[in-house]
This record gives sequence, structure tokens and C-alpha cells, in this order.
Amino acid sequence: MAEVKAGLQDVVIATSGICAIDGERGRLVYRGYEISDLAKHSTFEEVVYLLWYGRLPKRPELDNLKQELADNRAVAPQILDLLKSLPPAQHPMEVLRTAVSALSLYDPESEDMSEEANRRKAIRLTAQLGTIVAAFARIRDGKDAVAPDPRLGHAANFLYMLTGERPDEEIARWFDIALILHADHSFNASTFAARVTASTLADMHSAITSAVGALKGPLHGGANERVMRMLLDIGSVDKAEDYVRGLLARREKVMGFGHRVYRTRDPRAAILCRMSEELCRRSGQMKWFEMSQRIEDLMIREKGINANVDFYSASSYYVLGIPVDLYTLIFALSRIAGWTAHVLEQYANNRLIRPLAEYTGPVDLQYVPIDQR
Ligand code: COA
Repeated sequence: MAEVKAGLQDVVIATSGICAIDGERGRLVYRGYEISDLAKHSTFEEVVYLLWYGRLPKRPELDNLKQELADNRAVAPQILDLLKSLPPAQHPMEVLRTAVSALSLYDPESEDMSEEANRRKAIRLTAQLGTIVAAFARIRDGKDAVAPDPRLGHAANFLYMLTGERPDEEIARWFDIALILHADHSFNASTFAARVTASTLADMHSAITSAVGALKGPLHGGANERVMRMLLDIGSVDKAEDYVRGLLARREKVMGFGHRVYRTRDPRAAILCRMSEELCRRSGQMKWFEMSQRIEDLMIREKGINANVDFYSASSYYVLGIPVDLYTLIFALSRIAGWTAHVLEQYANNRLIRPLAEYTGPVDLQYVPIDQR
């Protein structure tokens, strides 16, 4: 019997020039640049350019990309009509999955597989995911969607479309950093799903729809929402340790902890931890940060398991006033940059992804007619 690596653990299935993770040392690198440097010095739009084109842009190149993203934020009116027609109580990830699929119906180049058309689709998808998320969040509350403001950067514009108010610069910058941190992560489950779909030479919207579906699960992007639900359930700092001990005693997973690749602290968690502290302090809601710290200390002490990207993003988004069921969608509106970069890379050097399975079912059965079974 061939060796089966459950969950493809440690299996290298391709080469890629986009993103490197060193799980032992806790390093994450986009196209050669450390994530901590990018979080400190870069912007989401610059990171998008880096992921798509393989190098940092010169100023006119960055200005051009920013303009293209701003010019393409508005979605077709049929998409807004669709959002209005969807059940408002359904989970917004179901809505995003549906809307991303629907975008291709109104995309003038949906079936054009030329590299130029695919790059333009990557721009439209990256520009429009935030518009869809913000519009649905308002429509389900009985409010009108807010039209994008082309003068605002990607992060600030999303917060503006969500709340109807332009965020102050510091808040917009923290949110921009959160988008940078989530923009890519090598062959994670959703990116792999996108690449598998792209490898059949299906169109980019099909690949991204696959990715959104894969991101939804609690073992992947769905974890950040569940982290916040846990913190809300705990309620106060002094109850945090007993609550988590209870989860561990029942052998339940603590959301926001553990990782398939990192054996040490996820470098994104370190930056998000500082973000959570700063944003919780600013908003006068330190208890979410303090509760998170108690949980992280306990998990390291008792299980030797570190926080991942989803743990401190939860409290950060909460004090920014973002509805809890949108957290995974925030992940998506950043990760779209990486998904599209990977789809472009897959198309550029494609071979159908088609692994094998070791068959363990019954053999040599005789067919029995239905009324004799
Ligand atoms: N809480 C408690 N125990 C955990 C844990 C967590 N969050 N993550 C891993 N473990 C434990 C498992 O129970 C298992 O212990 P065992 O060997 O005694 O059975 C061991 O660590 C290995 O976990 P496993 O689930 O097999 O690892 P994996 O590589 O298949 O899974 C994750 C990785 C991310 C799916 C897993 O850590 C997890 O479910 N985390 C919670 C969800 C989450 O935060 N996902 C977002 C990832 S960015």
C-alpha cells in the first residue's frame, strides 16, 4: 500500500514564487519580503502589486494600480439586486460565495482566458469583494449600500462603505495592516482549492468561488468568527482560564490556535496581538485583549500550542465595530490578492492537479438484483 499523508501534511505538490513560510522559525515572506517589514512600511495596494507582478512597484506603477482598483470598485446593479434578494439572515459567507460566482455573469471577459484579461479580472475581483461585503452588511440591516469613494485607499474605503463614515487615519492604517497580513499564505486550503479549479483551465471566477467555499470552514478562515464568539461567551477576564480548561478537558479545539505549518508563533499573530492591544485600549475595551492574553498564556503553558492569525484579529475587528459574522469575509477581501496571484501563476505554467487515492473499499462483489437484496 502506498504511503498516505493524511491531509497532505508535509507533501510538496508544486513550486511557487509567491510566498514562503518557515514553520520552524515562524517566518512568512511574500516574494522575498518579510511580513513584518511589509506590515511596517507597505500598504495593501503595494502588496497586491508585489504578489501579482513579483516585485515592488515604482511610484507610477503603484499609482496606476490604485487608480485601477478605485475605478473598478462599483459592482453591476444586478449584483446589488441579487444581494437585496438573498435571505438576510443567512451567513454572509454563503452570500459572498454566491455573489462571487454571480460576478462572472456580468464580467465582460468572464470566458476570456488571455493573460491580460485574467489580470483585469484579478483587479475587478480584488476591487469588488469589499463592495459586496459592505453592501450586504448594510442591506440586511435595511440600509442603503454606500457608493465607494475613489479618493480613499482600499482599507479606508471598505470601512467607509461598511459604516458610512470615513475612518480616521490611524484606524484605516491598522485595518490596512490587517489586510496586508492576510493577503497570502502559500498553499493553504482555499488557495489550493483555487489552484485545483484553475488547473482544469476553468475561469478565474470559478477558481475564486472554490476558494471562498474552502475559506468558510472553521478549520480555516471560519476560525476568526468562532474566536470572537468564544470570547463573548466567556464574558469576563477572570473566567477565561476555566472556560478554556473546560474545552481542553472535553478535547474540543480552541479556535485561533494551532497550525499545520507553524511550529512556533505565527508571525502574523505577533503583529495582530499588538494591533488588538492598541485598538482595545483606544476603544476603552481592554477586557477583550486581556482575555485573549490569558487564553494564549494558558494554551502555551498547558498545550504548547500557539495562537494563529485568527486569534487576535477577532478582538481587533470587534473593537472596530465590525459585525462578528463578517470576520471571515474580511479575510476573503484580503486573501483575494493571494488567490488571484496563485491562479495567474497556475495558468502561466499549468498542469492538471489530479492526485491519487489508495482504494480501501470492498472488491469483487457480485451484483444482486434489487428485489433480491
Ligand atoms: N485546540 C486544542 N488542541 C489543538 C488545537 C486547538 N486549536 N489545534 C491542534 N490541537 C491538538 C489536536 O487536538 C491534536 O492533539 P492530539 O495529537 O493529542 O490528538 C494535535 O494538536 C494536532 O492537531 P491536528 O488537528 O491534528 O493538526 P492539523 O495540522 O491537522 O490542524 C488546525 C491544524 C489549524 C486545523 C488545528 O490546529 C485547528 O483545528 N485549530 C483550530 C482552528 C483554527 O484556528 N483554524 C485556523 C487556522 S489558521
